[in-house]
Amino acid sequence: MGKADLPVAHALTLDEIPVVVEQFAQAARNAIAAGFDGVEVHGANGYLVHEFLSPVSNVRDDRYGGSPENRARFAIEVAAAVAAAVGADRTGIRLSPQHDIQGVLEQDDADVLATYTAVAEGLAPLGLAFIDVLHIDPTGELIQHIRRTAGAPLIANTGFAVDTTREAAEALVADGWADAVAAGRPVIANPDLVERWREDAELNAPRPELFYGRTPEGYTDYPALEGVRAGV
Ligand SMILES: Cc1cc2nc3c(=O)[nH]c(=O)nc-3n(C[C@H](O)[C@H](O)[C@H](O)COP(=O)(O)O)c2cc1C
Repeated sequence: MGKADLPVAHALTLDEIPVVVEQFAQAARNAIAAGFDGVEVHGANGYLVHEFLSPVSNVRDDRYGGSPENRARFAIEVAAAVAAAVGADRTGIRLSPQHDIQGVLEQDDADVLATYTAVAEGLAPLGLAFIDVLHIDPTGELIQHIRRTAGAPLIANTGFAVDTTREAAEALVADGWADAVAAGRPVIANPDLVERWREDAELNAPRPELFYGRTPEGYTDYPALEGVRAGV
């Protein structure tokens, strides 16, 4: 056994693309079979689906590269395959326009608008459960345009740049900028975050030095409210 050799990265061939699309669909089936309520296609943060969207990381000259519509094709095919596999009502997609991470640069505003318009137009007929869009400004025209065009409920996600607080999350929904808000660090640090936010209870502070660790420490050992009250 032991570790397998690392594969050398390469641009997917046209023969490989449908195989990878089917792998996303099978992963979604596996998740539902394992008891998950739904799945989120990761189209953000510089990973594979996102790599297709940027004209910097995607230098293909076939029907998956070049124009905004071509670069949007893979994301749409993956979302469509996952929705067909497990149901659109169980399928969402995460996007992160202009995140500029892991070499996936999106610095030409006109191209970003054209590319994400193409993505959103391709997603619209699927009737997805949600789009989860990571951007520092969910109230900006780009994100609201993607939301309107995709016609799916928007989960706003301000990422690591801004701490997600209850007040900020409530304001985004109350003011109509989002249908829901994603929280990351507060959820990791508070196993009962919903109850704490509901009761305006004190929050555990996240311990960032334990993020991305290889052990349960910093993931499963934050005290729950009862524990706090009982002095456990
Ligand atoms: C420990 C940790 C690991 C994360 N890993 C990923 C990841 O692998 N992929 C991803 O897209 N986002 C990841 N995120 C980001 C969250 O999904 C989310 O966008 C972010 O935490 C929301 O901001 P908040 O922490 O202020 O609520 C991670 C966040 C944390 C705290």
